[in-house]
Amino acid sequence: MSEPTVYNIQYPFSGGNSNGQETFPGQPWDALYSDGSAPWDIGEPQPAIVRLASEGAFTGTVLDAGCGTGENTLHLATLGLPVMGIDVAETALAIAQAKADERGVKAEFAATDALQLELLGCKFDTVLDCGLFQALDVIERSEYVESLASVTAREAILYVLCFSDDATNANRYSVNQDELEAAFNASTGWTITAIEPDRFHIREHNSGAPAWLATIKRN
Ligand SMILES: C[S@@+](CC[C@H](N)C(=O)[O-])C[C@H]1O[C@@H](n2cnc3c(N)ncnc32)[C@H](O)[C@@H]1O
Repeated sequence: MSEPTVYNIQYPFSGGNSNGQETFPGQPWDALYSDGSAPWDIGEPQPAIVRLASEGAFTGTVLDAGCGTGENTLHLATLGLPVMGIDVAETALAIAQAKADERGVKAEFAATDALQLELLGCKFDTVLDCGLFQALDVIERSEYVESLASVTAREAILYVLCFSDDATNANRYSVNQDELEAAFNASTGWTITAIEPDRFHIREHNSGAPAWLATIKRN
């Protein structure tokens, strides 16, 4: 039997506020896009999101929270969904907008902190979180959950794709099911309806790293 693959995913930063204002002045997320080193930026939508979309999981207006360079946003837009991608990394957003223009795809992109979504002043029926929740610390997660509530109504659906705590998945962004349940539960106004094993594709591993795909409903 061959040795299990160890997914030693090192992002070139650690700790601090996810929007980078505290620990890494000068936008660390943005820097990863400026120098082209973002490991998750695979130049195509995540296969798990493509599959979900093909199953009709995305309906109504869609928010892609932490959209990066917009491959998932643009995929959903090509299916005819009205979709907005938000991110704190302005370089990523500029790349996303350039792709949209180049491909003739209509999608909206905005520089917005996911912890302050109320500033958008609009509501969404479905929210995609592909790799953002895993990057937030416990306090940020709690702010994020409240922030999500400000842009959704009852019955809205949130999909979270995050690195899982699979034994081979050694990285500081791994999420276990308890962490998902601690953030999204009856007391915070959400119900997790499914947590399924999936894959999160990154540049180094064509078959992707072990991930959870959580389906979460707003109560
Ligand atoms: C792992 S990347 C995933 C990007 C994209 N969803 C994808 O699949 O390619 C996480 C993204 O979240 C963004 N991000 C981190 N903190 C954020 C925050 N507080 N508000 C909005 N976006 C944030 C980062 O800039 C980055 O683009």
